[in-house]
Amino acid sequence: SLQPSISRVGITLEAYILEGMIGLPGATGAFTSLLNQIGLTAKLITSKVRRAGLANILGYTGETNVQGEQVQKLDEVANETLLNALGRRGHCAAVASEELEELRILSTDPRARYLVVTDPLDGSSNIDVNISIGTIFGILRKAEDKAGADISDFMRPGHELLAAGYILYGSSTMLVITTAGSGVHGFTYDPTVGEFFLSHENIRIPERGAIYSINEGNSARWTEGVRRWNAWVKEEDKATGRPYACRYVGSLVADAHRTLLKGGIFAYPADQKSKNGKLRLLYEANPYAFIFEAAGGRASTGTERILDITPTELHQRVPLVLGSPHDVEIFEEFVRGA
Ligand code: AHG
Ligand code: MN
Ligand code: MN
Ligand code: MN
Repeated sequence: SLQPSISRVGITLEAYILEGMIGLPGATGAFTSLLNQIGLTAKLITSKVRRAGLANILGYTGETNVQGEQVQKLDEVANETLLNALGRRGHCAAVASEELEELRILSTDPRARYLVVTDPLDGSSNIDVNISIGTIFGILRKAEDKAGADISDFMRPGHELLAAGYILYGSSTMLVITTAGSGVHGFTYDPTVGEFFLSHENIRIPERGAIYSINEGNSARWTEGVRRWNAWVKEEDKATGRPYACRYVGSLVADAHRTLLKGGIFAYPADQKSKNGKLRLLYEANPYAFIFEAAGGRASTGTERILDITPTELHQRVPLVLGSPHDVEIFEEFVRGA
């Protein structure tokens, strides 16, 4: 492929994948095909999201998912769309999804070596009020070429991910993806031609920022350390850029994307009500931790690195802090020092 110094802005996602710019050294065509399936899924879901109000897929299904949340029609539509696309080419053995209590086995062929973790529709509470939502995904590889997959194949620490990314259905639709060691790249969707074009090559998070993102409504339930950090970011101190601005959309995909591009910190800490916070390790915290570290950022629970955690359950929750190295370090000092 061309020297990396030549900017590739404007290349399509398919071309970028085929040229191995975000492939894996020596990866078989199967991995490339799986990445393309995810690109197709992004196009299918974005077309449904953009017409949700017209296609009668707003509102609730009346069911409750394993999280105890009311399932939105778009949660289900996104989940089914993703499962159908991933199942089509036979490279994905199984999927762990926020919307499925158990694993979904897609292929028992030993040659189906890849596993996908996904939050098919993140930010469900924002669907009906037309605020940005997204899809989160991660790709793991089965430890050995066995037929099918079981839960043990997913109980792997996040640093074993081969790829992670998200699709943000915002003012435009953007797909941001990284494969192990290839940098973080953003592709913006042009609906007039139905293609994703590279728009943000090699995204790097600023060393520090001046925005913090947390649900202040939970402050009565935070631990002492988090409360002290929260007071610190709001003190007047020009030398350290404080007070920080506060931005909280309530969709992880939107809050994390802004933090990745502008720097600063996003936190959904543990609190007295939810001992492990709210966000799920497999398909929210791990993919974002993988992306943030690939972009030069940090991702921790406040006390330990997210990517080192070995999961024990599909839907386990973890406290999640994402952001610029400088800002995550300060947060951790407050949490440790409390
Ligand atoms: P999901 O819609 O996939 O269930 O995720 C919602 C999550 C995440 O998107 C966001 O950061 C968080 O919920 C917001 O929670 P609060 O409304 O409690 O702040
Ligand atoms: Mn949910
Ligand atoms: Mn989510
Ligand atoms: Mn979701």
